[in-house]
Amino acid sequence: MKDATCSQPEYLSSRAGGALRGEIEAPGDKSMSHRALILGGLAEGETHIFNLLEGRDVLDTAGALRAFGIEVDLDGPGHWRVTGAAWKSPPEPVDCGNSGTAARLLIGAASGFPICAEFTGDASLRKRPMDRLFAPLRSMGARIDARDGDRLPARVEGGGLGGIHFLNATASAQVKSAILLAGLRADGEVEVKEPARSRDHSENMLRDFGCDLQVEEGSIRLGAKRKLKAASVQIPGDPSSAAFPLVAALITPGSELLVRSVMVNPLRAGLYTTLREMGADLAFENRRSESGEEIADIRARFGRLRGVEVPASRAPSMIDEYPILGVAAAYAEGRTVMRGISELRVKESDRIAAMTAGLRACGVAVHEEGEDLVIEGLGRAPAGGAIVAAQGDHRIAMSFLMLGLASRAPVKVDSAAMIATSFPGFAELMHSIGAEIEDAAA
Ligand code: S3P
Repeated sequence: MKDATCSQPEYLSSRAGGALRGEIEAPGDKSMSHRALILGGLAEGETHIFNLLEGRDVLDTAGALRAFGIEVDLDGPGHWRVTGAAWKSPPEPVDCGNSGTAARLLIGAASGFPICAEFTGDASLRKRPMDRLFAPLRSMGARIDARDGDRLPARVEGGGLGGIHFLNATASAQVKSAILLAGLRADGEVEVKEPARSRDHSENMLRDFGCDLQVEEGSIRLGAKRKLKAASVQIPGDPSSAAFPLVAALITPGSELLVRSVMVNPLRAGLYTTLREMGADLAFENRRSESGEEIADIRARFGRLRGVEVPASRAPSMIDEYPILGVAAAYAEGRTVMRGISELRVKESDRIAAMTAGLRACGVAVHEEGEDLVIEGLGRAPAGGAIVAAQGDHRIAMSFLMLGLASRAPVKVDSAAMIATSFPGFAELMHSIGAEIEDAAA
């Protein structure tokens, strides 16, 4: 099983220095990077991907595709070539590391082929619920044998699939995407209904790869033409990663930061809407579109923030951003209520528990109310001065490092090696804008 690599520091600490200033680019979008590799592996011909995120999660998807017999090559810096083919049974279990997206999308795609594959992952991934995916895939005809019926490791035998009308009740883009990928090789109607819309990168990219797909109010249907043709994909900056330096600039006195070429698809931009409601000085400049996605340069300037209520309906569009919103909320004046966020319990860690414990350790009052989290913003810098347990979760680690950049005493986080799953070069990029982040001892 993969573990955090030894060359990465296990502990990092951050402290308040001067203002954060500069112009940077965030790494390539993680969701789109997984999808570009997988669609390339399913398509006829050579797919070229530019600015692929070379984080551990995405490299695990590349490694898994190779295990299925797909050629995946690095052609130049950030330029990857994938040559699609019929997938073969991998000789060994496919290790998806820490990545739910890798596991769920690959299981969906593999289910379409008459092959047999065992899927596994690290300790966090092996705890995450898979029944939301296995149940619909089984109803399409996949044979899936899983630990407790609901967890990895799981053995998947695919092929001979029929159609499905699936209700995506948890608003999971991973589950939706897995059904659509399985559906590419299914015989019958394939429809996913979404009461709340989740990120639509799979739909956008499937179209770019020549798939016939109808999207109407709350429903996605695959058409008759489901054969994919190789494409060229330019990956924009990841809004979930850009969120860390941008929030750091919002809370660090005197800061002004520009993050260039960030994807601002409205189904991913909920954090930015929320920050503006909090009074943040945040502007989307130079808006344009690339590879079927909206892009902008995002400028953030330090200023006062106030607490807000975040409606449950916004959760799908900012699902990965609640930990960093928790940091902004700690600095804001007044109470922030995050409604309907129970899905955070089944991410890379129980993010509600990790945020609650970390914020309390840093001197911020926080409590849970059913499916909601309530943070009592201080209207000034929190105490900090804590060692925060990131619970092996990259986004918890980065969020608390951002808190430490403006708190009264330094903050140390563990699990720092996990940051490389989604944001390779994080500490170096933060240094380039003046952030004081350094390796620390246990
Ligand atoms: C993702 C979907 C979300 C998100 C994850 C990436 C994707 O998960 O939390 O980081 O790329 O489809 P769910 O589909 O479980 O909500």
